Amino acid sequence: MSEEKVIARIGGEEYTEDQLRELDEVTLRGALHERTHHGIEVPIYPTIERWKGEAIPSFGRDAEVIYNIWKEKGGNTEDEDIKWVERYLEYAKQIRQGIKPEIPEYSEVQKPYSEEELKVIWKLLKERKSSRAGWLKKEIPEDLLLQILEAGRAAPIGCNLDEVRYVILRTEEEKKLIWSDVSTENATIIVLCYDKRPSHIVKQDLPDRVPHNRGFDAAAAADHMGLIAHALGLSSVWLSDSPGHAKEFKEAYGLPESFEVALHLAVGYPAAGSIKSGRVPVEYMIYDRQKAK
Ligand SMILES: Cc1cc2nc3c(=O)[nH]c(=O)nc-3n(C[C@H](O)[C@H](O)[C@H](O)COP(=O)(O)O)c2cc1C
Repeated sequence: MSEEKVIARIGGEEYTEDQLRELDEVTLRGALHERTHHGIEVPIYPTIERWKGEAIPSFGRDAEVIYNIWKEKGGNTEDEDIKWVERYLEYAKQIRQGIKPEIPEYSEVQKPYSEEELKVIWKLLKERKSSRAGWLKKEIPEDLLLQILEAGRAAPIGCNLDEVRYVILRTEEEKKLIWSDVSTENATIIVLCYDKRPSHIVKQDLPDRVPHNRGFDAAAAADHMGLIAHALGLSSVWLSDSPGHAKEFKEAYGLPESFEVALHLAVGYPAAGSIKSGRVPVEYMIYDRQKAK
């Protein structure tokens, strides 16, 4: 054990400055996200609500320390996620000094959508469908593909760990490496993976914590992608990997050891129409324990 002073706690473990410096970029960034999330973003709102006017000397310290190491190691400070960290670090600093942060009220930033906007959103939610009717031999323009990937990026992520990663398979040769129960000829396949390093350092991957969040993150991203693909005149189908198939792809494609495959989406221009499946009524979906008696 190093003689050096402990300067941060991550996942309940103590880290010295040198130990933090040794972490690879993805792990350090993941730790920075999680410490900002659980150390500032989650406790800050109840702290402001019950503001007592007293300085809280430890508030957001772990994130601050990790951020300083991040910067010292030449880490990017332009990306949106780091800007988000910096905003919260500023508020945390104020709390440490006994200053009540002025965060915009929820009602000031969140207005209901207009009827017109809602119509479009409901149209998208109701009309998106899976397509298995084959795909036209027409490439998805790069800007549309980028929009689909960006939509996945906008999805919710457990503990702000940002672990979802994409692998894009364009050629028939590459697509052969991954399982599908429908034809993917002419489609582009987006494989949604996650990098296990962020959740590992913060110990959210332990069986009694939230190891399932990583798959949920990928699922949320895939759902966003399917929606935007539909709005762009493309269609998609979600293809679920069995753990065996996911492992086979990981090996065949040569993914890094820290990556796992969650699922993949086939996206393209549909060659024919297909029927949108129906759903059970919403009342059927609600479990009411009084009625069940
Ligand atoms: C978790 C999950 C796994 C799925 N796996 C497959 C699959 O392996 N193959 C497939 O053709 N469709 C798959 N789908 C698509 C569903 O079959 C489809 O969403 C469902 O039939 C409802 O139809 P819709 O998407 O048109 O509303 C999957 C969807 C989800 C959410």
